[in-house]
Amino acid sequence: MVCALSALLHSLLLFGYGAAVDVDPSSKESLKRAASTIAAELRSSYHGDEPGQIPGLFPYPTYWWLAGAATNAWIDYRNYTGDTTYDEIVTQAIFHQIGPNRDFLPPNQTLAEGNDDQGFWALAAMSAAERNFPDLPAGQPQWLALAQGALHGQMERWDDENCGGGLRWQIFAFNHGYTYKNSISNGIFFQLNARLARYTKNDTYAQWAEKTFQWMRKIQFMDDTLNIYDGGNLPACAFVKNSTILWSYNNAMLLGGAAFMYDYYNKSPVWLEIIKGLLSKAISSFFYQEAIVNEPACEPYNTCNDDQISFKGYLSRNLGYTAQLVPELSARIFSVLRTSAVAAGKACTGGSGTTCGMNWTLGKFDGHSGVGGTIAALETITSCLAKDASLPSAMNTGATSIGDVNAGRTSSSGHKTKIDPATQNDKVAAAALTLGICVSA
Ligand SMILES: *[C@@H]1O[C@H](CO)[C@@H](O)[C@H](O)[C@H]1NC(C)=O
Ligand SMILES: *[C@@H]1O[C@H](CO)[C@@H](O)[C@H](O)[C@H]1NC(C)=O
Ligand SMILES: *[C@@H]1O[C@H](CO)[C@@H](O)[C@H](O)[C@H]1NC(C)=O
Ligand SMILES: *[C@@H]1O[C@H](CO)[C@@H](O)[C@H](O)[C@H]1NC(C)=O
Ligand SMILES: *[C@@H]1O[C@H](CO)[C@@H](O)[C@H](O)[C@H]1NC(C)=O
Repeated sequence: MVCALSALLHSLLLFGYGAAVDVDPSSKESLKRAASTIAAELRSSYHGDEPGQIPGLFPYPTYWWLAGAATNAWIDYRNYTGDTTYDEIVTQAIFHQIGPNRDFLPPNQTLAEGNDDQGFWALAAMSAAERNFPDLPAGQPQWLALAQGALHGQMERWDDENCGGGLRWQIFAFNHGYTYKNSISNGIFFQLNARLARYTKNDTYAQWAEKTFQWMRKIQFMDDTLNIYDGGNLPACAFVKNSTILWSYNNAMLLGGAAFMYDYYNKSPVWLEIIKGLLSKAISSFFYQEAIVNEPACEPYNTCNDDQISFKGYLSRNLGYTAQLVPELSARIFSVLRTSAVAAGKACTGGSGTTCGMNWTLGKFDGHSGVGGTIAALETITSCLAKDASLPSAMNTGATSIGDVNAGRTSSSGHKTKIDPATQNDKVAAAALTLGICVSA
């Protein structure tokens, strides 16, 4: 009787919501099926491979960096599920956006591209290298060299003159935000260095990662209890209005990067303590009732933009990496990822049946559709599969992507393209929204 009733309710639910995304997190097949549904949902909003469209871009109002994040989500998805459906569009997208210096600074993005935006694409290239995603043919840029290209340019932009170090948010002086240093730019820089150290075994990268982490602590972007604030204004990197907001993706980048450092240093107890601290902070700050990943700075107020809706996806992604690299924490991590994946499934029932919402605590679609929510759901469901995935590869463990120690070395010069004031304001406003800080464009 009970079974019959629940079967009936189940089918009514399926009927009522069309193609609902049912997630049984204890079943690998169920997780794969759900991930594949959301990966296809993300694909349905992408048109960059169609005639007349630009590869690597989603239609307005989805910004360039979010396309880099989506690419990364497809790459990790492919590795965790074995589904190669998106190989061609992913390769084409990355290849089109590498820019003339092969460092993810395409001239079209100059008016809005910050170190963080560039960083999201570099992270995608890094994932492609670590996950043995098929490289472009010899003679073409390789994933590893592309990640290095972006990172080496960022090293050249490290700024000791202000606040004792760190990257500025913006790359180009004519962009608003050039006088702001922020945690996401520096957090991605930290993580890329940590991953390149582990991949190449070149200690220079590890030293940069250490230096970045120490600087973020010293300047109090990361406080004594491991809260990570958005950023601060030059000259002193002082906090200003809204810049003490805690966003989940900042915790994400530091946590994931720390996990790679832990592995690079052969299970360093020092990094383990940091990881445990960041993990506890992630769960207490960014998981509703310690069970459903969310963005407390904007979700409860219904004020998240599409960029911000995606942030919690990067937390899920990095929790997956951390569970892989620090197995003793995996039970705790998968416990919160699984409850979140179930909640995401229930929220991905809008539109034609698989559109994902923003607030996953409601048990249903909440009306907020967009690429950001789709990425967040894809990352969260996919990351549950990290449990059975192989470790990210490195040069001594089967990695095949070829690097270039000189990649991107001169990237900070030579990109001074003409500014069109009409498009500048729009793009700058868009970029500011990404971080929820107020700049008057
Ligand atoms: C830059 O914009 C032009 C004109 O829209 C387009 O043809 C080209 O593909 C774009 N390049 C990139 C890297 O997005
Ligand atoms: C996932 O990545 C690992 C590490 O690079 C690799 O060994 C494995 O073959 C990949 N799996 C798939 C399905 O691509
Ligand atoms: C290690 O990395 C640094 C920074 O990219 C580079 O300058 C140096 O040449 C690399 N060393 C080796 C041995 O590859
Ligand atoms: C989700 O929406 C409900 C109802 O509006 C609200 O009470 C709750 O705070 C929201 N949850 C989160 C995590 O924002
Ligand atoms: C930033 O502050 C303003 C006003 O103080 C507020 O309306 C806005 O919601 C804040 N932004 C975020 C992302 O919380």
